[in-house]
Amino acid sequence: MRHFLEVDDLSADELRWVLDSSSRPVADAPQVLAGRGVALVFEKASNRTRNSMEMAVRQLGGHPVYIRPEEVGMDVRETAEDIVRTLACYHALVAARVFRHSHLERMAACEVAPIVNLLSDDAHPCQALADLLTISQCIGLERTERVAFVGDANNMWRSLAIGCAMLGIESSLAVPPGYAPPAETLERLESLGGACTITDDPAEAVIGADVVYTDVWTSMGQEAEHDERVVSFAPYQVSADLMSRAAAGAIFLHCLPAHRGEEVTAEVIDGPASRVWQQAENRMHAARGLLSFLMGGTS
Ligand code: CP
Ligand code: NVA
Repeated sequence: MRHFLEVDDLSADELRWVLDSSSRPVADAPQVLAGRGVALVFEKASNRTRNSMEMAVRQLGGHPVYIRPEEVGMDVRETAEDIVRTLACYHALVAARVFRHSHLERMAACEVAPIVNLLSDDAHPCQALADLLTISQCIGLERTERVAFVGDANNMWRSLAIGCAMLGIESSLAVPPGYAPPAETLERLESLGGACTITDDPAEAVIGADVVYTDVWTSMGQEAEHDERVVSFAPYQVSADLMSRAAAGAIFLHCLPAHRGEEVTAEVIDGPASRVWQQAENRMHAARGLLSFLMGGTS
């Protein structure tokens, strides 16, 4: 039984297999979920993740069941273990969007169903798969020399940096003082063979980059820090001027939802370098590739 809590739960070869599989036409999707259910548990709001997962499950022949935040009661109504033991009675796979990453680890430790991380406070690996798929389509994985992430060293940055490290793509991060990632994440990147260059200067991070990526400054669950974060991150806005310092032909990516005028200007996200809608569509294709892998569709 395989779980997907972070991108490096796959080997580099498996990651490439998932990305290749995600590129296959929907009409050729293996029916690995025929007659089977997939539980989609959400403790936080979602637009892209819920819709892309539901459609991917259908494309693989399965039946998705969306479970609302108020229905979950993780460790309140019942334990994370009892939730997953119950859901495994009906479903071939359990996917969950949670606050605490440890809830996913506890669910996976039950070994009753493959667990997929639909975003936790630590990681957003399904989004990173879609991002890497978009980079492969727009630039080519072999031709991508550097991905620059500007903003918060959050769940999105971590999963993307891990994915880049696994594929031999250099990455850089521009982050304000006081918001740098923990040492253990940097060690994890190094152990995967791909250290991330960290700076507090956005211009330095993006010089020569083929991809400029940003995400919200205030992630779900951090709302109380919003006012303070807007001040700290203001110099980290991705503007047309910042984009002009990246490599010629560089693309702009954002996992969405976006806040125009905060982490990115409208000119950039709605401009010619932006690939955010292709990226959003790729959530569905990447989910299909991942689920077919986890359901044993590799042969
Ligand atoms: N990118 C992403 O995960 O979007 P949602 O929060 O809308 O699912
Ligand atoms: N970092 C953001 C990503 C949203 C898709 C959050 O966790 O809210």
